Amino acid sequence: MNTPILVTGGTGTIGRHVVRMLREANRDVRVLTRHPRESAEGLQHVAGDTVKGIGLAAALAGVETVLHLAGGAKGDDIAARHLVDAAKQAGVRHLVLVSVIGADRMPIGYFRMKAAAENAFEGSGIPFTILRVAQLHDFVLPIVRSMARMPLAPAPRGLRFEPVGVVEVARRLTDIALDAPAGHVADLAGPEVLDIADLIATFNESQGRRRRLLRFGLPGAIGRAYRSGDNLAGREAVRGDETWRHFLAARERDSALTA
Ligand SMILES: NC(=O)c1ccc[n+]([C@@H]2O[C@H](COP(=O)([O-])OP(=O)(O)OC[C@H]3O[C@@H](n4cnc5c(N)ncnc54)[C@H](OP(=O)(O)O)[C@@H]3O)[C@@H](O)[C@H]2O)c1
Repeated sequence: MNTPILVTGGTGTIGRHVVRMLREANRDVRVLTRHPRESAEGLQHVAGDTVKGIGLAAALAGVETVLHLAGGAKGDDIAARHLVDAAKQAGVRHLVLVSVIGADRMPIGYFRMKAAAENAFEGSGIPFTILRVAQLHDFVLPIVRSMARMPLAPAPRGLRFEPVGVVEVARRLTDIALDAPAGHVADLAGPEVLDIADLIATFNESQGRRRRLLRFGLPGAIGRAYRSGDNLAGREAVRGDETWRHFLAARERDSALTA
């Protein structure tokens, strides 16, 4: 038994890999979730809701390090403030936050909410580490799939992503949690910056089909921000190895095996 690391969002896409990696590093893990399940050796699930501020004191009891990976479409700013308040009471020594690249630049509610969550961590007085990551391949896939399905696939000009592999993100977050607080660390993005047209074309190729694209300009401040690359990492970013093409090929292999 060692001091448990609290992982909020430990049941999520990124979180479940982080929990596995922490367990492989022989660390006890406590997962905060709205839907608790059975606990296992070294892995405890506790009920709580970060947005409603429920269950946080019990989840944080005896915890020194918190990995805050819970997130949703709404309330991440409120959740971060609740967690920070409870962490101060509990005497937490290291707060880790996963954020998104462009949090302070993109004129979109989700990004603003992430910037507010970062502010809550920065102003907490508790030593922290904040890692901004690019969109996961798993996140970009449903967007690309829905566009690619159409006979004339909509592909806004200047819309680019640099998708990154979930295992690479989880590995970096695990290493951060096991290390000393480091403040803002280098962004983590995928190996390539890809135009939406390339993402769609590679996806269609993996499905053995071709589609024509409808190119158009995204209007307003959001369009300008994407065209300026405000959602993209800078030169100092760390880049993962898993390409979009490799990700798609691995998915095809996995679905062939389970078919
Ligand atoms: N996916 C991406 O491309 C990406 C990119 C950059 C940053 N991020 C950020 O990384 C974090 C994790 O992303 P993900 O893709 O792993 O998300 P996900 O698969 O949607 O998982 C979300 C997790 O958050 C938990 N959660 C949501 N609302 C909660 C609440 N009110 N109280 C407690 N737990 C709550 C869920 O747990 P239960 O349902 O078990 O309660 C779940 O484990 C999020 O903060 C996201 O914004 C994601």
